Amino acid sequence: MAQENIVNALLYAPQYRPNMSSMIRSAEFYGLKSIYIYDKNGLLDPPNNKTSRADMNHLARVWTAGAIEFIEIIKIPDIQDFLKNYSGRKVATLLDKNANHLSDFKFQANDLIILGSEKQGLDPEALPLVDQNIYIPALGHTPCLNVAVTFGIVVNQAIGQLV
Ligand SMILES: C[S@@+](CC[C@H](N)C(=O)[O-])C[C@H]1O[C@@H](n2cnc3c(N)ncnc32)[C@H](O)[C@@H]1O
Repeated sequence: MAQENIVNALLYAPQYRPNMSSMIRSAEFYGLKSIYIYDKNGLLDPPNNKTSRADMNHLARVWTAGAIEFIEIIKIPDIQDFLKNYSGRKVATLLDKNANHLSDFKFQANDLIILGSEKQGLDPEALPLVDQNIYIPALGHTPCLNVAVTFGIVVNQAIGQLV
């Protein structure tokens, strides 16, 4: 069971440990006591070999800057079940110009902020289970932000509104 957070965050099938670690670090920085991870790509359970163990130690000590010591990682085994039963609003960050623009969006306590995976975003099966969508409008030519950068911007906005 997650400890109380003002908002929650779900990392949906992250693909790269540096991005996942950076989001764990930012979550802890903003005071979250726990973070949900749908670890479809097995980043948290690497094969039991020397290289993978070294990678995990690196994740813990260096990439999260020690944050992992202070935040509970809650692995989600069944994402459909989790999303169907989550008690607050499910707020997905999406590359969709028609979604709510971040600057107009009003966060609520217990919102679940969802970050998609680096290459695919959210799976099509998950989209119907989401209540709200948020988009950070691009002003330049680059089509999208790095997922961990998105995390920092969105959580900063949510915490700024609610704390
Ligand atoms: C690198 S993006 C690409 C995802 C995928 N190619 C797609 O089209 O959905 C990975 C994740 O970062 C987040 N993201 C990146 N840029 C964003 C933006 N401008 N607005 C909202 N979310 C964004 C979303 O969570 C997205 O699922």
